[in-house]
Amino acid sequence: MGKALDGVEILDFTHVQSGPTCTQLLAWLGADVIKVERAGEGDITRGQLRDIPGVDSLYFTMLNHNKRSITIDAKNPKGKQILEALVKKCDVLVENFAPGALDRMGLTWEHIQSLNPRMIAASVKGFGPGPYEDCKVYENVAQCAGGSASTTGFDDGPPVVTGAQIGDSGTGLHLALGIVAALYQRNTTGKGQKVLAAMQDGVLNLCRVKLRDQQRLARTGVMEEYPQYPNGKFGDAVPRAGNASGGGQPGWILKCKGWETDPNAYIYFITQAPVWKDICKVIGREDWLTHPDYATPKARLPHLMDIFAGVEEWTKTKTKFEAMDILNEYDIPCGPILSMKEIAEEPSLRETGTVVEVDHPKRGKYLSVGNPIKMSESATEVKRSPLLGEHTDQVLAELGYSAQQIAELRSSGAI
Ligand code: COA
Repeated sequence: MGKALDGVEILDFTHVQSGPTCTQLLAWLGADVIKVERAGEGDITRGQLRDIPGVDSLYFTMLNHNKRSITIDAKNPKGKQILEALVKKCDVLVENFAPGALDRMGLTWEHIQSLNPRMIAASVKGFGPGPYEDCKVYENVAQCAGGSASTTGFDDGPPVVTGAQIGDSGTGLHLALGIVAALYQRNTTGKGQKVLAAMQDGVLNLCRVKLRDQQRLARTGVMEEYPQYPNGKFGDAVPRAGNASGGGQPGWILKCKGWETDPNAYIYFITQAPVWKDICKVIGREDWLTHPDYATPKARLPHLMDIFAGVEEWTKTKTKFEAMDILNEYDIPCGPILSMKEIAEEPSLRETGTVVEVDHPKRGKYLSVGNPIKMSESATEVKRSPLLGEHTDQVLAELGYSAQQIAELRSSGAI
């Protein structure tokens, strides 16, 4: 078998992070992704956060694997002709320009449809239709506008953005799913369609438990699994819950042996009700089993912070890995706080292809994430990102341009 998306051709007009995440995923699944960039600079991320002078940054290389790169000046008339030829040939156009930029290039939805009625035109935008639809948006703006920042952090501190790129990479994932669904629908309708994933919507989709809690709060005025209960105050909006777990199984981050010097010597500990007896036994607090404040899940809710303090007395005597080993023997849900260094060095993640080592002609070897989606009959092979314009001649030759025409296009500045 080949790859799941073999034969799908993608005209990739994406840049920075959100769009490239989407097209990288489609490339990993087997699509032929042709990334269009401007000659000279290319995707702005090639030059951002550079760790080696003159070499494509890790920011770029880690978002653009398995793609081909062609340089086209979309505002040059001859460049426009090439673009139109690509629109006719490809199945999907993906873009994440600021609102209106694609139209200004002449690629309105009507024009795209007239060139290729089967084309799927997929966009990431910061906001959907409404008061902010014309705004430019970056990751943290989306985190703030999508409800993540107001619900992240501790009660006594300001809103906090998360390290997970839920606005960019999260929205790229949403868009990829929309594209695959539109390709599937096209099998029966024969028609393309527009697909939009707005970053605010993507973040909110990932924050849905907080919208759930907003309505619980409005109805009951209190949420018993939040650290504000029972001594703090609830206002009229979902508060920041620190490290409380979002679900019905109370959890918190606890110190482990070495926490005084190691910023990641912590474990996430969940006081799951079915294993409460084992928790008490393991940490040597069997007195809690019969104590009226601790015996039932309901009774424990007002005392969660005392319980976590008690458990922490035990976790502080173990490293996070020792604690994991002991707790897992009893099926007590827990997770070590892993640093990026630990993740980069973890052999099991290398074995599954979740972390991969890639060789690049200018940079040498570097680590990247691999495809997090594993398919039994369509395995992903991560290939290095393209150099700027590396495939310009190849793609143009596929479109029927001769070597002499390509040379003329180059001297005219169209490519
Ligand atoms: N040839 C000619 N012009 C090109 C080109 C090409 N190959 N590729 C891009 N351009 C032009 C565009 O046409 C646009 O020109 P115009 O504004 O004169 O019409 C210009 O480059 C810049 O595009 P823009 O998207 O406005 O880039 P920016 O750097 O100013 O803004 C973002 C960056 C990310 C803020 C913006 O693209 C955006 O809001 N995107 C949508 C949301 C998003 O994806 N955000 C997350 C990014 S990780």
